[in-house]
Amino acid sequence: MNLAAGIPVIAIDGPSGSGKGTVARSVAEELGWHLLDSGALYRLVAVEAVNKGVALDDGAALAKLAAGLDLRFTSAADGGERILLAGQDVTAEVRSEEAGRGASAVAGIEAVRAALLGRQQAFRVAPGLVADGRDMGTQVFADALLKVFLTATPKERAKRRHKQLNDKGIDVSLAAVSRDIVGRDKRDSERSVAPLRPADDARLLDSSGKPIDEVVQIVLDWVSSI
Ligand code: C5P
Repeated sequence: MNLAAGIPVIAIDGPSGSGKGTVARSVAEELGWHLLDSGALYRLVAVEAVNKGVALDDGAALAKLAAGLDLRFTSAADGGERILLAGQDVTAEVRSEEAGRGASAVAGIEAVRAALLGRQQAFRVAPGLVADGRDMGTQVFADALLKVFLTATPKERAKRRHKQLNDKGIDVSLAAVSRDIVGRDKRDSERSVAPLRPADDARLLDSSGKPIDEVVQIVLDWVSSI
């Protein structure tokens, strides 16, 4: 018997900068449910590949690395997230633009996705899970209770991402962030394995011009209406 099947999942998918990470975190906090930031797993594979000198197109070596990742998500004393790889704090590396680009490259390799599938599904623990990514509703949790596909205009997404990076003290131009977002969207939507697209039964939510609290409330209203 698959005990996890009865545990509710809210899948929040969408392109980079749509706000899905922030929305997923707030919804999970409000409900007291667990959180899966699936992008962080792909980013960790890219970070570990660079650390171990594995090429980002060596599918077999990357899949092995993905299967053996010794990772832990935790929080710091200030409440901020901490990502540990073999006990080492790699939060800053994982959140870097370089890791984002590397993640997008390794995410196109089927063997890597297969190696990460079970790890992602293992986050489905009572009382429930909020999972954010690109294929939560289409592949990983196809039986999710609620599927949200969060979008925003490319201009707004670039502006948000730019602000996030500036707040972290990373000096990068808006034009460079914008180019990166457009490139990543294209790669994520056009790849043959698990391309970025809304599940047939997903509810579309455009967050352009909406404060994050309003977007969170819309999702919570949807949850209570189910
Ligand atoms: O969401 P985040 O920016 O952390 O994701 C980094 C990259 O990982 C994405 O651009 C995408 O290529 C990949 N990804 C994926 N499937 C997921 C989550 C992320 O392919 N479920």
